Amino acid sequence: MVIEPLAVDPSSDESGDAAVTDAAPLLVAEGLEKSYRRGGLPFSRRQPVLVGVDLVLRPGEVVGLVGENGSGKSTLMRILVGELAADAGSVTRSGRLGYCPQQPILYERLTCDEHIELFARAYGMTREAERRSRRELYATLGFEQYSGTRVDRLSGGTVAKLNLTLALLADPEVLLLDEPSAGFDWDTYLKFWELVARRRAAGRSVLIISHFVTDDHRFDRIVELRDGGAVPR
Ligand SMILES: Nc1ncnc2c1ncn2[C@@H]1O[C@H](COP(=O)(O)OP(=O)(O)OP(=O)(O)O)[C@@H](O)[C@H]1O
Ligand SMILES: [Mg+2]
Repeated sequence: MVIEPLAVDPSSDESGDAAVTDAAPLLVAEGLEKSYRRGGLPFSRRQPVLVGVDLVLRPGEVVGLVGENGSGKSTLMRILVGELAADAGSVTRSGRLGYCPQQPILYERLTCDEHIELFARAYGMTREAERRSRRELYATLGFEQYSGTRVDRLSGGTVAKLNLTLALLADPEVLLLDEPSAGFDWDTYLKFWELVARRRAAGRSVLIISHFVTDDHRFDRIVELRDGGAVPR
C-alpha cells in the first residue's frame, strides 16, 4: 500500500546500477521514540517500545529487521510509513513507498484483479503500467488463476501474495515488508527472494522484517531491535 505520493529523488534513476552505498539515503529515521498506554485508568502507565531508534536505507540495499516477538518491529515499520505517529524523532523519505503490513488490509468482497485496479488508480498508474505490473506479479508469484476470486475465498498464502503484489505494484523506490513470506510455500518463498534481488539490482531499497536466521545471507545488513534500540547484527 502506498501511503502518499512522494517527490521522487532525482538521484534514484532506473539505470540498473547495483548498490551505491554513498548515494543519498531514501529513508532516514532519527531518534524515534514510542510508548503505548498499558492498563486501564487510573492505573495506566506507558510501556516504552522504541527508545531512540535510528535507521538509514540507501538505494540498492536490502536490510533485515529482526528482534523478538514484541520487540517493536511492526511499530517501527508503521511509524516509517506514516501510519502511526512517533512520540519523538523524525522520518524523512524520498521516492515512492510501498508497504506490506503484517496484517493484510484488504476488502473481503473484492477480487484480486479489483484490488489491483483500485490500488493502481490510487497510485496514479497508467493502464499500460498497471497491465504490465499485474502480468509480471501474477506470473512471478504464480497466482493468476485467482485473479477473479474474492479475497474471502482465498487461501492464507494467496492473500499474502496479493498483499505483497499491492505493495510492489507501482515499483516503489522503498519497499517496507512486515513478515511478507509467512504463509508462502517453498517455491513462492524462493521466487520472493528472486524478486527482492531484482529490486536490489535496480537500485531499489527493501526493508524486511524476518524471523528466519537462515535468511542472513540474503541481506546486505541486518538490524536488530533490542531494548528499544536498533543495533547492527
Ligand atoms: N496498538 C497498541 N496498543 C498497545 N500496545 C501495543 C500496540 N501495538 C503494539 N503494542 C505492544 O508494543 C510491543 C511491540 O509490538 P510490535 O507489534 O511492534 O512487535 P513486533 O516486534 O512486531 O512483534 P511480532 O514479532 O510478534 O510481530 C508489544 O509489547 C505489543 O504488545
Ligand atoms: Mg510484528
